[in-house]
Parts: sequence; C-alpha cells; structure tokens
Amino acid sequence: MTAPFGTQFAPLISVSHYADGQWSAAELQSAEELQLHPASHVLHYSSSCFEGLKAYRRSDGSAHIFRLDMHIRRMQNSAALLHLPAPESSMLEHMIFSVVKQQLDQIPAFPGSLYLRPTMIGIDEMIGSAGQASGTAILYVLASPVGDYFGGSEKTLRLLVDDQNMRTTPTFGQAKTGGNYAAALRFIAQAKAEHNCDQVLFCPGGNVQETGAANFFLINDNRLITKPLDGSILPGVTRDSLLILGEQLGYSIEERDFTVTELLDSAANGECALSGTAAVLTAVGELVHNGRTYPVGNGQVGANTVKLRQALTDIQAGNNQQYSHWLHQVQ
Ligand SMILES: Cc1ncc(COP(=O)(O)O)c(C=O)c1O
Repeated sequence: MTAPFGTQFAPLISVSHYADGQWSAAELQSAEELQLHPASHVLHYSSSCFEGLKAYRRSDGSAHIFRLDMHIRRMQNSAALLHLPAPESSMLEHMIFSVVKQQLDQIPAFPGSLYLRPTMIGIDEMIGSAGQASGTAILYVLASPVGDYFGGSEKTLRLLVDDQNMRTTPTFGQAKTGGNYAAALRFIAQAKAEHNCDQVLFCPGGNVQETGAANFFLINDNRLITKPLDGSILPGVTRDSLLILGEQLGYSIEERDFTVTELLDSAANGECALSGTAAVLTAVGELVHNGRTYPVGNGQVGANTVKLRQALTDIQAGNNQQYSHWLHQVQ
C-alpha cells in the first residue's frame, strides 16, 4: 500500500438520515459524493463527530473488527457532547457491518486493514441561530483501505513538547469531533515549519496530555505511565488495550498526571510512544523543548515498545485466543 493513510476509499458508504426524532433505514450508496446545502448546520457550527476503527481480514476471508463495542460507545458519547442524536448501538453496528460485508475485497492483507469512519453531521439549513442544535442529521460510514499510518514501524517520531497550548478544552478532549483537530492544526503546522517536528505533544501548564491524534505513553522495563482519563483527552481504545496487555505482561500501570520535567528526566533512559488505531504504537525518538532536542533512549525503537506492539498486533491478527472477544466477526 503506497497511498497515504486515508486517501483511498471503498466505493460504498452506508447512510442514514435523522429527522422528526427518528433515523431512516440505512442504505448503501456511492462514496463519491454527499450533497449538502451551503447553510447546513455542520458547515457553520461544527456539529459533527466521528470514529476511527479497523476491520482485519483473515486468510479464510472472514473480517473482524477490533473492539467495536468501545468505538460505538465513544461515538455515542461524542454525539451526546455535541448535542447530536446518538444512534442505537445495533443500528451503528449494522451500518458498519454492511459497509464491510459488501466490500470484503477492499480489505488489504494484514497488517493492512479497512479503516472505518462512522461520521455524524448536523444538517439543519440554518445560519440565523448559532445557539440552536440541529434537529436533523446524517450518519454515514465511510471505509478506507489502509497500510501503515507512519509508513513503517521502525520509524521514530520527533515531537515538539508544547507546555503553553491546549489541544482543545478540558471537557471536549474526550469527544472525537472535528473542531478539536482544527484547533490544533496551527500548532502542528508551526512545529513542522520551525522545528521539523512530526507532531505536537500538548502539555498545557506542564501537564503531559496527548498529541493531535494519539495518546502518549512513557515506558521503561518496569512500568507504563499515561495520563488518566479526566475528560481532557480522548479515551483511546488502543490506550485501553495496551494498559490491559501491559499489566498482563508484568508492567506496573501508572495512570496518573505527570509533568514535562518528569518526562524529560525519564526519557533519556526510557521509551516514549504514541498509541492509536492509526499509529498502533509508534516510537518517539526525539523530544524538542524550548529549542533543545532530547533524545529518547538511543533514539531508536525501544524493546518494550516492540514487545507491547507485538502483543497488540498478535490479537488483531487473530493469533491470541485469550483476547478473541476483542474482535467482532462481521456477519
Ligand atoms: C486526539 C486523539 N487521541 C487519541 C487517539 C487514539 O484513540 P484510539 O486508540 O481509539 O484510536 C486518537 C485517534 O485515533 C485521537 O484522534
């Protein structure tokens, strides 16, 4: 797979419309276009939320979705925070299944996958009342065949440690909503232009949070540290999975707040990594803070990062029966 992550699309999406308090029966339609009135609520007031999850194909041709229930719950939580109509779990599951089932040929061989993007938008045609929620909405599930987000697991990232700016608000960090990403863009663009960094690690007031699109882990041979879920960061499904697997592998798990000072002190003799559906577990090789570069360990992918990533991808490949309940076979 050579195309950048998320730039190629399977031909069909599943779509349902919400009006008068109910959802229409979902239908498959072309992924080529979606018509919106220029006054649509989402285009002005950002009434949107989405999810990102993956379906994997096995050699017998069956498709399996990783931690579908957690992604559905997070979509419902995001919808509630944006005052959009939360879909029933069974309805969203059905829409996701139908998109995968009709397009099994679109799922690349493991470790490739079909990245699924359920998306909800408010579509009231209304620009006169910014304070009013949209009473109508569209829910659709888009699918994109993907390879490796960061283009090879041996690449390490260079992160700007930003102790000034917040990615989003303390409440909305937990929502997967477009505005959060838009708010972070200028900081990421600036970090690239001025410091040649791949991503920004947001640490407002010195509190280490997450990057623009992944959770953050501080790792050594004995323990995993990551910020607790306090509403300000996205409750990552990969984060949750790594905490469970890490404990089983014998690491002590520290879900706690930690500072930039602790991060920079520990990084020299440890490992740092980003976790996410797209990132899986991607090693950080360098941290940049106040114009100075701090190598993380020896700058290469650390042994603990490799071990944790392997434990996760073994499950996703269907090679660990103990966690087979994390995979939902597409029926
Ligand atoms: C801001 C942010 N944090 C963390 C994550 C990781 O979440 P997950 O592991 O559920 O993909 C993502 C998305 O992938 C994200 O956009």
